[in-house]
Amino acid sequence: MNRKYRKTIIAGNWKMNKTPAETKAFIDELKGKLGKQRWCDVVLCVPFVDIPAAVRAARDAKVAIAAQNMHWEKSGAFTGEVSAEMLKELGVKFVVIGHSERRQYFAETNETVNLKVKAALENGLRPIICVGESLEEREADITAELITTQVKIALRDIEADQMRKIVFAYEPIWAIGTGKTATAEQAGEICGLIRSVIRAKYGARVARSVTIQYGGSMNPKNAEELLAQLDVDGGLIGGASLKVDDFISIINASNQ
Ligand code: PGA
Repeated sequence: MNRKYRKTIIAGNWKMNKTPAETKAFIDELKGKLGKQRWCDVVLCVPFVDIPAAVRAARDAKVAIAAQNMHWEKSGAFTGEVSAEMLKELGVKFVVIGHSERRQYFAETNETVNLKVKAALENGLRPIICVGESLEEREADITAELITTQVKIALRDIEADQMRKIVFAYEPIWAIGTGKTATAEQAGEICGLIRSVIRAKYGARVARSVTIQYGGSMNPKNAEELLAQLDVDGGLIGGASLKVDDFISIINASNQ
């Protein structure tokens, strides 16, 4: 973290978990347990149907609600899809774009990620752009090229003045839901690489202001060490964000 230049953001990514009633119960419990003094922003990325309950429950707390996906078109014949404008109207502030599960199971590409990033920004939503390599790609020693390509294409046609709205999440696929975390050095190295790609395109001032999270089996035990890396400005947390106490422990780790 480097709180002098950028926000630390701890975001829970619930994936396909929790009903609207469970969402309300979780946020009510979270509000009761969250300390007043906080050095990080807290975000919950919830399933579409949970958004109204989440926004309502989080209204009097400093917790922003995010969607986990969206379509890039404004409207039209796209059965089953949801637009940025629809999310905005519900009170959504962030949207996860290009999560590896979306890339893997729903055929998302670097190009569709870029379309979604642009549509999100046009509608006042802050994108959390996910990038990351598979184990095969890491072993083939192509991680740096792959991440560089993912970041460059995601940021195609994005102007410098929009960069402060953007969050990146480095999520090595081999660490997601596996209990296998990247070492703090590995996480710091790739988050630093993402920042250097941003620096090459937009300059040092913009690059140091962008929040870059790590995601992949982050938990109460390893959070502090990961967040101690200068270029790791928060976490995108799956499994450990489903339990209030674990999620709060990670938020507290960012306050050290
Ligand atoms: P995990 O998921 O924390 O359960 O590994 C992280 C993510 O996919 O965002």
